[in-house]
Amino acid sequence: MDIVERIIISEEDIQTRVQELGQAISADYGDEPIALICILKGGLMFLCDLAKHITSPVTYDFMSVSSYGDATESSGVVRITKDLEESIEGKHVIIVEDIIDTGLTLSYLLNNLHSRNPASLRICTLLNKVSNRKVEIAVDYIGFEVPNEFLVGYGLDFRQFYRNIPYIFVPKPEYYREDV
Ligand code: IMP
Ligand code: MG
Repeated sequence: MDIVERIIISEEDIQTRVQELGQAISADYGDEPIALICILKGGLMFLCDLAKHITSPVTYDFMSVSSYGDATESSGVVRITKDLEESIEGKHVIIVEDIIDTGLTLSYLLNNLHSRNPASLRICTLLNKVSNRKVEIAVDYIGFEVPNEFLVGYGLDFRQFYRNIPYIFVPKPEYYREDV
């Protein structure tokens, strides 16, 4: 695709790592049921692939959030646009996210979900942009540490497109930066 400047994680590397994460989660939870909570829309591709490699019994639920304010910088003021359908009280919950950037979205979500009294609450993110963190968050399962660049593909969008691309890439600056 013309928009691709550089592929930073190949399809094969994603699939290998996702399998490892599924195996690690299965080893940790054993026969204990896990309530996977996918943060839409970015977490959807990751959830589907990850769940295939979890041998513990799992259920899915979905949540959608949007942050107020500037679209390119997370403000930390988060609005739930779609809430869970099931109660998580007493359940072992894992939040499935595409990427943690500033951490502001997730820190809001963690507080919110903690107040619903799950038995446990962990985070599984495919990508971790740790250099851009504004609030400290303990992340239990991480696929890849990534640099502080704008990334697209495998769930991550550029103006809602390219979420279906099976690898993760940096787009050419002329596609998304107005100063070039
Ligand atoms: P945070 O509150 O800054 O951690 O925001 C995390 C959310 O911002 C992610 O769930 C993504 O939806 C979005 N995001 C962060 N970095 C990128 C990126 O490089 N490409 C696309 N979306 C991103
Ligand atoms: Mg997201």
